[in-house]
Amino acid sequence: MTAIDPIIVDQVAALLDGETNVITNLSNAAAILYNSLDQVNWAGFYIYSKQRNSLDLGPFQGQVACMHIAPGSGVVGTSYEKQTPLRVPNVHEFAGHIACDAASNSETVVPLKVDGSIVGIMDIDSPILDRFSEKNVKVLTDFGAALSKHLDAAALSAIY
Ligand code: SME
Repeated sequence: MTAIDPIIVDQVAALLDGETNVITNLSNAAAILYNSLDQVNWAGFYIYSKQRNSLDLGPFQGQVACMHIAPGSGVVGTSYEKQTPLRVPNVHEFAGHIACDAASNSETVVPLKVDGSIVGIMDIDSPILDRFSEKNVKVLTDFGAALSKHLDAAALSAIY
């Protein structure tokens, strides 16, 4: 486990200030996560598609990933269904884990809430077992909240 500097919360807020394009905002948020965190091999977003009832792959950095995840499936779908962040120290011990990148060994997911509803899931993978601490999850939850202020639910559902 290594620390995640809470400065990333201020960085995302400052960078997205005044920007309304949801893809632009998710893209730069993925870049901050991927480049600021140690020992991370994938960082990005799954956005809920009402018409498909699926969490569809959104902007990310890392290897090619699964494109659609059903609510309730895998770490991402479980977080969506339970409406809570999940810290998974060992993905191989998580029943139903969806292996997109075989290098991933631990994972943290955080729901993104806009106007009280979850619009998608922020997902970060690490090749290191137990990479994410509870403290890390708190910083990532704050990061997700800062990002969500720059996500318009109607704009997302027009795309997804
Ligand atoms: N591992 C995730 C799938 C997404 S990838 O990690 C990018 C899951 O089990 O839902």
